[in-house]
Amino acid sequence: MDTADTLGPRVREQWTHAPDALYLNHGGWGSCPRPVLEVQREFQARLERQPAQFFRDLEGLQDEARAPLAEFMGADPRDVVFVPNATTGVSCVVRSLRFAPGDELLTTTHSYNSCRNALAATEAQGTRVVTVPLPFPLASESELIEPILAAVTPRTRLAMLDWITSPTGLVLPIAKLVSALKERGVETLIDGAHAIGQVPIDLDRVGAGYFTGNCHKWLCTPKGSAALWVRRDLQDGIHPWYVGHGANSTRVDRSRFLLEFDLPPTDDPSAYLCIPAALKFLSGLLPGGIPALQARNHALALRARALLCAALRIPPPAPDDMIGHLAAVPLPEGPAGTLAPPHPRSNFVDPLQSALLARHQIEAPVLRAAGRRILRVSAQAYNSLDQYETLARVLPGMLAEEHA
Ligand SMILES: Cc1ncc(COP(=O)(O)O)c(C=O)c1O
Repeated sequence: MDTADTLGPRVREQWTHAPDALYLNHGGWGSCPRPVLEVQREFQARLERQPAQFFRDLEGLQDEARAPLAEFMGADPRDVVFVPNATTGVSCVVRSLRFAPGDELLTTTHSYNSCRNALAATEAQGTRVVTVPLPFPLASESELIEPILAAVTPRTRLAMLDWITSPTGLVLPIAKLVSALKERGVETLIDGAHAIGQVPIDLDRVGAGYFTGNCHKWLCTPKGSAALWVRRDLQDGIHPWYVGHGANSTRVDRSRFLLEFDLPPTDDPSAYLCIPAALKFLSGLLPGGIPALQARNHALALRARALLCAALRIPPPAPDDMIGHLAAVPLPEGPAGTLAPPHPRSNFVDPLQSALLARHQIEAPVLRAAGRRILRVSAQAYNSLDQYETLARVLPGMLAEEHA
């Protein structure tokens, strides 16, 4: 059977999208299926029935969510804490570290704006952020590895690298990069916002200094659910963005790292408590569990990309094994003057993206990175080939219209 078409309408109905919507932007904010939303509602009801008891029980509930997540990420649960999102995870690490004037922090032109801003905020301490230009399209992973390593200097203190880049959907050879950087005395902070659920993760083996990743994207939990992993020897130096009850805890049965992050100010923890339910839901979609789902979504992303490349008359912009469940293709520039400066969370939306939604109910982001205008589609369990066929059919005409 075609691996890209193994899931049908019964699976799609598990999500709450409008029936005729072509939602091709799972990478944007994820999307949570009904059974997992129901589990979240149960947690919220339990919380409101007896809030004091719920928060007394919270540590046990956190451990119940942490254990399967850690196992899924190839990590020891003692090294994993919950944060609401990857932006917070990056900020906790970068704001905890102390830098000296002249220290260099390395990242790339494919990294995520809010996370690059976290690095830029350290410039007040006299640091310099070195943003390495990476190509797109590209023919091999060495086109990424070489410029990153060439940018290392004796002043480089930290590299922040995406496991999977946001605008271009490239799966970086992260283990190779982490170990090559370590050989040069540089710790890596992995921005794994797209990694959890999209690719196999083995954090103990990768051995980076820090990793953060969203569960609300490719693990399909409710929003506000992410993980922060810190290598054991570095944990004493990393703190939450707030100073909370854990800061003066006298408990010795747990590390200060866990105590500080597990006792946040009042908040709704139901999103990350749904991690076991989300893992169970995704594992049950195909007989081969999550690995089979990942293979299916990868195959579907490749098929989607092939359709778009044929429509645009371009070759594939990256090797097949460098993409996961996101497929990005470079577009011709729009007419002069219609493109405002890019910002992922500004109100600016590329006119093509707006027109795809307005005319065809297709939600697919048109982004900018590496000096290119890029169309990105996602492949999750609820997506099917016919959706990308529709996009590929209407795309050439819409691009032609832009220049008419
Ligand atoms: C690579 C990358 N890092 C960080 C983020 C930020 O995620 P969040 O808004 O959940 O913090 C995103 C979001 O798309 C992303 O793609």
